[in-house]
Amino acid sequence: MTAPPPLLHRRGGGVSLVIDPRGAGRVVYWGPALPDITDGLWDAEPPATPDPGGAAPLVPLAGWGYGGLPALSGRWASGGWAPRLAVTAVSGGAQDVSLTLAGPDGALSVLLDWYIDAETGVLTGTATVTNHGTEPYRLDWCAALCLPLPGWADEALTFDGGYIREFQEHRQPIGPGALVRDNRRGRTSHDSFPALVAGEAGFGAVHGSLFAVHLGWSGNHRLTLETLAAGTRVLMAGELLLPGEVVLAPGGTYRTPPAYAIATDGGLNGLMARTHAHVRRRILPRAPLPERPVHLNTWEAVYHSHDPQGLGDLARAAAVVGVERFVLDDGWFHGRVNERHGLGDWWPDEAKHPGGLAPLAEVVRALGMRFALWVEPETVNPGSALHTDHPDWLLRLPGDPDGRRQYVLDLGRDDVADHLFARIDALLRAAPVDMLKWDMNRDLAGTAWQGEPAVRRQVAGVYRLIDRLRAAHPHLEIESCASGGGRADWGILARCERIWVSDSMDAHDRLSMQRGFTLFFPPEVMGAHVGRGQSAVTGRRLDLDFRCAVALFGHMGVEWDLRGIDAQERERLAAWIALHKRHRALLHGGRWVRLPLDDRAVTGHGVVAMDGGSALYLVAQRVTRPGIVTVRLPGLSSDGVYRVTVPDPSPCPLAWGRRGLRFTGAHLSSAGLRLPAGTPDEAVVLHLERCGGETS
Ligand code: GLA
Repeated sequence: MTAPPPLLHRRGGGVSLVIDPRGAGRVVYWGPALPDITDGLWDAEPPATPDPGGAAPLVPLAGWGYGGLPALSGRWASGGWAPRLAVTAVSGGAQDVSLTLAGPDGALSVLLDWYIDAETGVLTGTATVTNHGTEPYRLDWCAALCLPLPGWADEALTFDGGYIREFQEHRQPIGPGALVRDNRRGRTSHDSFPALVAGEAGFGAVHGSLFAVHLGWSGNHRLTLETLAAGTRVLMAGELLLPGEVVLAPGGTYRTPPAYAIATDGGLNGLMARTHAHVRRRILPRAPLPERPVHLNTWEAVYHSHDPQGLGDLARAAAVVGVERFVLDDGWFHGRVNERHGLGDWWPDEAKHPGGLAPLAEVVRALGMRFALWVEPETVNPGSALHTDHPDWLLRLPGDPDGRRQYVLDLGRDDVADHLFARIDALLRAAPVDMLKWDMNRDLAGTAWQGEPAVRRQVAGVYRLIDRLRAAHPHLEIESCASGGGRADWGILARCERIWVSDSMDAHDRLSMQRGFTLFFPPEVMGAHVGRGQSAVTGRRLDLDFRCAVALFGHMGVEWDLRGIDAQERERLAAWIALHKRHRALLHGGRWVRLPLDDRAVTGHGVVAMDGGSALYLVAQRVTRPGIVTVRLPGLSSDGVYRVTVPDPSPCPLAWGRRGLRFTGAHLSSAGLRLPAGTPDEAVVLHLERCGGETS
């Protein structure tokens, strides 16, 4: 092995990573691209013994006298827990680096694989721990990525929320000690989306230097941001391992899920430019995604009450308003009278669907729509045939099954996985199903396999099963759902085309959920449905235009019993769907931006075509506010001249809205547009088209 070079500089997509690989190694710099290494970047002395109050080594550990949170934690069967890992090998090219660290006795090694994407600038990191010793090593924690942040990154954005209130942003100043976000639910969770953003105080839509990390994993996770005594900050993300979940036998290895790190000087819009590009190019199973069809989902229209005539009528009503894919939700399979029965018996209920699903699928297809199906393969209801035949196929859970009375099947077992594969494969062959809505309505907290924690093994089993189905059915699409948005992350997104953000379609609440969601996901994967006038989950009554305007910007759909709506509503809904289709390429391929609005009474976002030629914005009034709202529209080309109109059927509060006025991009992003403040839960859509000529 050759001696490691003094300093490594990796670059890609406008981002630099500089590493000093000597001794324990350390990240000298990570952030917006540096022209080249300068002497001033690093200290003259190698960090052989890291200062516990100062710089963090590549893998911070107590063995080096480091006093902060470790990036690796474990113990040998006969004792020993604090190795002194130093860099023993380095390889890689212009954008990637692999660093091997090992202790003096060579019994344990950690391989860090880091890669900066040339186009998106996103840094992907994994760590692989290998036991080269002669006795078992119990691994308790290994960060996938561990990066230092500057002391001026002193405001954090994390996510909280819950069922029907996913992706709520939470801001807090970063003080002394550690900010820790743990998830032990076994699903990605509704209340702790695995991402953390830290930046200069007050960072906003269009300004501020910031750093972010996301873990691409659908199980347990831990994200930490710790302030060391000397003021340096250390950001970590990894899989949260339950006690004894990973025990490495001699020769055994553990590889973390990937963590993704983003650095930008461009505020949250700069962050989204990188995350959305990365999802589109590197994460999604198809690039680019085929055109997203407008959905009709049957859940809030019929719940479990399925009958062929009623569903046929619903399909006809859907086709009339322009729906392109009919999603048959829960209720279709054997014995599914309510949510406490039937899970596991994945064949059509003979009473509800005589002759199977093919006849309904044919009705749907004859109407020019595609046909999709809801499944929840990972769980089983007591009393189902599957449960009766295979009571031993379950992961043990504490106590009784929860409210929906369902147990979790052990997907770590080959016979269980083979059975589920065969059942779903048969469904996909029996009817022309082009998408599965893949649901999972149970946390895994407390699940055990032979007395041991089983979350990691279960998540790996879910990924394997989906991968196998996708390989056998290459045209199949999947929507990820877990009681709404409980399984949304880049790990599952590598296996699906759509994410169901929340069971709440209340457009007022959706505004904040979609705002948080779009920080890490582009709009084309965001399931966004127009629900009924009075929300089925919150009871709030909202006007049709507002509900449509909020759904317009995502992967649009309808979840409402259209058989009962009047002609006026039908026409208006059809007009909104037509507007979505007219601008679908822009909405699903453009650059998403947040509007820099300081006033919480108003919120808004937009999508600007990549070439700056057109844009759509939404300005929504959340609560009462008197007067005029000045709305700055970011993302436009500053020397372009744009005609601004309010497209039909959006309500038009501007006298000139339908006819249009011309403005320069510079004017719109700096001075902004003056809009009369509306009443709560009203929204206006603005369409911009670049044109030549004079401004007015
Ligand atoms: C979950 C999903 C819903 C719906 C129901 C059906 O709650 O999030 O969208 O599919 O299950 O039971």
